[in-house]
Amino acid sequence: MIYMLDTTNIPEIERLFDLYPIDGVTTNPSIIAQEQKPLRRLLRDIRSVIGEEALLHVQPISTKAEDIVHEALEYRDLCRGNYYAKIPVTPQGIKAIQLLKQRGVKVTATAIFTQQQALIAAKAGADFVAPYVNRLDNISSDGIGVVADIMTFINAYDMRTQVLAASFKNVEQVHRVCLLGAHSVTIAPELFESLLYHPLTDRAVWDFYHDGVPYYDEPEIIEHNTEKTE
Ligand code: E4P
Repeated sequence: MIYMLDTTNIPEIERLFDLYPIDGVTTNPSIIAQEQKPLRRLLRDIRSVIGEEALLHVQPISTKAEDIVHEALEYRDLCRGNYYAKIPVTPQGIKAIQLLKQRGVKVTATAIFTQQQALIAAKAGADFVAPYVNRLDNISSDGIGVVADIMTFINAYDMRTQVLAASFKNVEQVHRVCLLGAHSVTIAPELFESLLYHPLTDRAVWDFYHDGVPYYDEPEIIEHNTEKTE
């Protein structure tokens, strides 16, 4: 399972990469806009926090295939390392995916709402296809069902494309795409931390600490644990 953060907030990326086994960062123009900073500066800052091996997904804003390719190549040079061009599955986007693959650029096909969009993107050579689970659920469609179907044909046709399930609003959605064997998920920071949280874990840790502390006689360890349990 590949976990990625769906954010461009540098302090959050820094904090969560320090704590958790996170593999990369995904961005899109709306997420970029939230930070109100120039794109190039933001991308450089993200790369310097996550390192060259982590996946960094960047979405061009152009709409014509040649312009998408041009923009994606610019971001590749800027981001270096493990870079993915994130391309929406419009007709021009599908053309751009094929052109980028010919140039050896890794691609994630994004803004996927149907099974056939994913299949065409996979056939065009996309390394990842990104179905939007919560946005489908929000229109009374079935986000998990769409991911399930995409997984079925990827396995049936033995395709090398992987599913990057995206657009989550709750832990249950993430859990259910994991049960389907989706290869990766991208999640906003707050929801990512909800995956780990349970009040009974906090209670157990609190009890362990207070039961044991009178008998643990190494002051530095106790001090360190106190910081953690507060
Ligand atoms: C994924 O690639 C998208 O950036 C993202 O997951 C969309 O999520 P949203 O529906 O919460 O905006």
